[in-house]
Amino acid sequence: MNTPDPLPGAYQGIGRVTANRPVSSGLIRMDLVLARPLDFSPGQFAMLNLAGPSGMVFSRPFSILAADGQDVSFLYRVVGRGTAAFADLGPGAPVSFLGPLGRPFPARTPGQRAVLLAGGVGLPPLHDWLARHGRPGDLACFGAREGHDVPWNLLDERWTVCVEDPDGLDGHPAVTGLVTAPVAGPELPRGRDRILLLSCGPRLLLRAAADLAAAQDWECWLSLEEHMGCGYGVCKGCVVQVRVPGIPGSGPGSRNATCCQEGPVFRAEDLIWT
Ligand SMILES: Cc1cc2nc3c(=O)[nH]c(=O)nc-3n(C[C@H](O)[C@H](O)[C@H](O)COP(=O)(O)OP(=O)(O)OC[C@H]3O[C@@H](n4cnc5c(N)ncnc54)[C@H](O)[C@@H]3O)c2cc1C
Ligand code: FES
Repeated sequence: MNTPDPLPGAYQGIGRVTANRPVSSGLIRMDLVLARPLDFSPGQFAMLNLAGPSGMVFSRPFSILAADGQDVSFLYRVVGRGTAAFADLGPGAPVSFLGPLGRPFPARTPGQRAVLLAGGVGLPPLHDWLARHGRPGDLACFGAREGHDVPWNLLDERWTVCVEDPDGLDGHPAVTGLVTAPVAGPELPRGRDRILLLSCGPRLLLRAAADLAAAQDWECWLSLEEHMGCGYGVCKGCVVQVRVPGIPGSGPGSRNATCCQEGPVFRAEDLIWT
C-alpha cells in the first residue's frame, strides 16, 4: 500500500548549484537547478542541506527569492556553520532541497495600497511579492545597515533603499534612517481597507511594523524567521504563541502554532511576542 504524500506539492530532491556569488558586502545569491519545475508563492521557503555524507543533521530554512521553471534562487548571509558551507559551494555542487513549504503572504484586497518593509535577508519574499502583485503607488522599502550591504542589482526604481550609515552608497540614491522612516509620516491613510503592510526581516523590524499597523489600523502580515528542525510540522522546534479568540465572558487565550506549517507568515495581531 502506498503511504500518502505528507507534503503534497513539495519537491524533495537534489538541486545543482548554477551560481553562488556575492551581491553585496554581506549577501550572497545562490541559484540552483532542480530536476523538475518549481511552483511557489511569495513567503514560502525551502529546507536546504549539503548533499551526501557531509549533510548537517538539520536542514536550514531559506525563503525562495525567485523560481523560473527548474531554476530557483535564494539570498543569504553567512551567520554560522551551515551558511558558511553553502558559501563554499561552486557550480555543479549538489544541494539537498525540500520545498516549497509554509504559508505565503496574502495578495491585497481591492482598494488596498501595499507597503512592504524588508530588512536584510528579509528581502526575498517581498521582492517576489512586488514582482507578482506590485502596482503603481505601492511603497516598497529595503533597509540595510550601510550602503555596501545593499544588493543594488536586485532593486529596481520601485524600491526605496534606507541605510543607517551611508558609507558605500557610491552615488546610489538612499534615505538615511531606519527602513520604517518612509512609512512613519502622516501621508499614508488609516484603515485596513486602505493599506496592506507586509514585513520580513529582523525581529525589531517586525515589532516596529506591527506597532505601526496597530496605530494606523492597517492590515499587517509578518514573516517570522524562527529556528527550524524539520520544516514541515513534525519536530515542534519552531513553535510561536498565537492568540485564540476568547469565548464570551472570558479573555482571549493562546496556543502554540508551528512557524513552519501555520507560518512563517502570520497576521500581526495574532502574534504574542515573547
Ligand atoms: C522561514 C525562514 C526563512 C528564512 N529565510 C532566510 C533567507 O532568505 N536568507 C537567510 O540568510 N536566512 C534566512 N533564514 C535564516 C536562516 O535559516 C539561518 O540564518 C540559517 O539557518 C543559519 O544557519 P547556520 O548553520 O549558518 O547558522 P547556525 O550555526 O545554525 O547559527 C548561527 C547563528 O545564527 C542564528 N540563527 C540560526 N537560525 C536562525 C534563524 N532562523 N533566525 C535567526 N537567527 C538564526 C543562531 O542563533 C546563531 O547565532 C530564514 C529562516 C526561516 C525560518
Ligand atoms: S520545524 Fe519542525 S515543526 Fe516546525
